[in-house]
Amino acid sequence: MKTILTGLRPTGNLHLGHYFGAGINYLKLQDDYDFYLEIADVQALTDNFTNPSKVRENVFEITKDLLAIGLNPDKVHFFIQSKIPQIAELTVFYSNLVTVARLQRNPTVKTEISQKKELFGNNGESITYGFLGYPVSQAADITAFDGEVVPVGDDQLPLLEQCREIVRKFNSIYGQTLKEPEQVLSNTTRVKGLDGNEKMGKSLGNAIYLIDDKDTISKKIMNALTDTKKIKKDDPANPDVCMVYYYHKLVNTKENIEKVCSECKKGARGCVTCKKELIEAMNKFLEPIQERRKQFTDEKVKEILENGTNIARAKSEEQLKKVKKAMKIDY
Ligand code: TRP
Ligand code: SF4
Repeated sequence: MKTILTGLRPTGNLHLGHYFGAGINYLKLQDDYDFYLEIADVQALTDNFTNPSKVRENVFEITKDLLAIGLNPDKVHFFIQSKIPQIAELTVFYSNLVTVARLQRNPTVKTEISQKKELFGNNGESITYGFLGYPVSQAADITAFDGEVVPVGDDQLPLLEQCREIVRKFNSIYGQTLKEPEQVLSNTTRVKGLDGNEKMGKSLGNAIYLIDDKDTISKKIMNALTDTKKIKKDDPANPDVCMVYYYHKLVNTKENIEKVCSECKKGARGCVTCKKELIEAMNKFLEPIQERRKQFTDEKVKEILENGTNIARAKSEEQLKKVKKAMKIDY
């Protein structure tokens, strides 16, 4: 079995964008790979270091969300990054193999810096050493487990490329030791927000979370963007510009989707009814996820994280030994 590794920053609960983007892929991958799933608390702290409580809470929240969608803790090793000091050690060793200029040119890092002006300044003049260096730490995340395959979205590709460069440099200096990871594209489906925005996110206030209760869902869907040209209930409209239809397509049955589409085009359906039907379909879709989530008590989640972390630690210790030997620091 090949080894797969991926990570998530524990900064919030999972929403439908995560589910359709990444979650569904993870569910398929768990059967065919030795799967390490890192809850990347150390990486989350690089831009949340002033808010440690947020990161701590979300370690458990995000793990529960992942279990709720059906990831099987007997197959997936869930672990917490900060509990694996081997990753931190590797990060230090790899930091010699990357130039500061190269990190500053990394497109993902550049975009993030420009989005975090409050923290890093208008032109990135207050960038921290830790944030600029997180791609090095991410290369350690992957190689600590001999990760061969990394499921990531296209926004993460520059980070994987950076990891490959570090691996090549390491091998060329210290001899063939590390594997160059390949990518499997995950996050291929990007789910738009309820307001029609290309991205779904907490800061945009346009996301449906897997833990949202019936009232919350109802309110959110009632406010979703519809075809703005439709004024009266029996005006024909264009479902393709309507977010309610867009979400029907994600969670409803084929038959109902077709009905919504044809009735909308004919002017045979009002938006309020249409939204109510979506609320019902959404609740039905989320119910099994929320039911499964309830089975994972704090105690149980702690145990799952502990087990996964033990397996992860053993594996990363092996890797660290190899690296130290190659670098002649295996005293
Ligand atoms: N950078 C990733 C994100 O922001 C999270 C992450 C941490 C990761 N370590 C990783 C992804 C290792 C893939 C592999 O979502
Ligand atoms: Fe959208 Fe439904 Fe209204 Fe058509 S009837 S515009 S699909 S909410």
